[in-house]
Amino acid sequence: MRILIVYYSKTGRTRRVAKIIKEKLEENGNEVCAHEVKERKDYAKYLLHLNPRLIYDTLIRKRTEIKHIKINLRDYDLLILGSPIWYGTVVPAIRAIIEKFKGIKINTICFTTSDLDRGYSKKFRRLLEGLGYKVIYNFDVVKKEFEKEHILRIKEVIKSSQL
Ligand SMILES: Cc1cc2nc3c(=O)[nH]c(=O)nc-3n(C[C@H](O)[C@H](O)[C@H](O)COP(=O)(O)O)c2cc1C
Repeated sequence: MRILIVYYSKTGRTRRVAKIIKEKLEENGNEVCAHEVKERKDYAKYLLHLNPRLIYDTLIRKRTEIKHIKINLRDYDLLILGSPIWYGTVVPAIRAIIEKFKGIKINTICFTTSDLDRGYSKKFRRLLEGLGYKVIYNFDVVKKEFEKEHILRIKEVIKSSQL
C-alpha cells in the first residue's frame, strides 16, 4: 500500500508520532511518505501560548498560508493526517492543507496530539467528514504516550480497508 502521512508539528511531538507510524508501516512492506506542513510565516517558538498571532489565527479558525508542498494524492491509497491541538482545535496550517486536499476520495486516518485527554481526534474527524473526507479511523495521542495499540489498530484498519 502507498501511504501518505501529512502532519504539522511545532514542538516535535506530532513529528515523533508520524515517524513511528512511518517506520512501523514500512516494516509491513508499505510504501510510506511523510510530509511536514509549515506556515509561510512561522510562529516564533518562545512563549507559544502567549503569541497573539497564533491565538488569533487558531481561534478564528484561519487557514493560514502554508509553504508549498508538491503532493499528488492520486499516487496514494491512504492518507494519514496528524495535528497538535491548540486551544481545543487543530492548528491553522492543518486547516489550510485539509481545505487544499478537499474532494479527495482516498481513505483517511486522522490523529491529534495533545496534553489533555478530551477526544480531540473525534472533533478532527468530524471536521474532515464535513469537508467530504472518507475517514476510516481516528485516534488521540495524549501527553507522551503513543501506545502500541494505536499501531496495531492502524494496521488492522488498513488491512480491513483493503478487503
Ligand atoms: C498554543 C498552544 C495551545 C495548546 N492548547 C492545548 C489544548 O487546548 N488542549 C490540549 O490538550 N493541549 C494543548 N496544547 C498542547 C499541545 O497540543 C501538545 O503539546 C501537542 O502534542 C504539541 O504537538 P507538537 O509538539 O507536535 O507541536 C497546546 C499547546 C500550545 C503550544
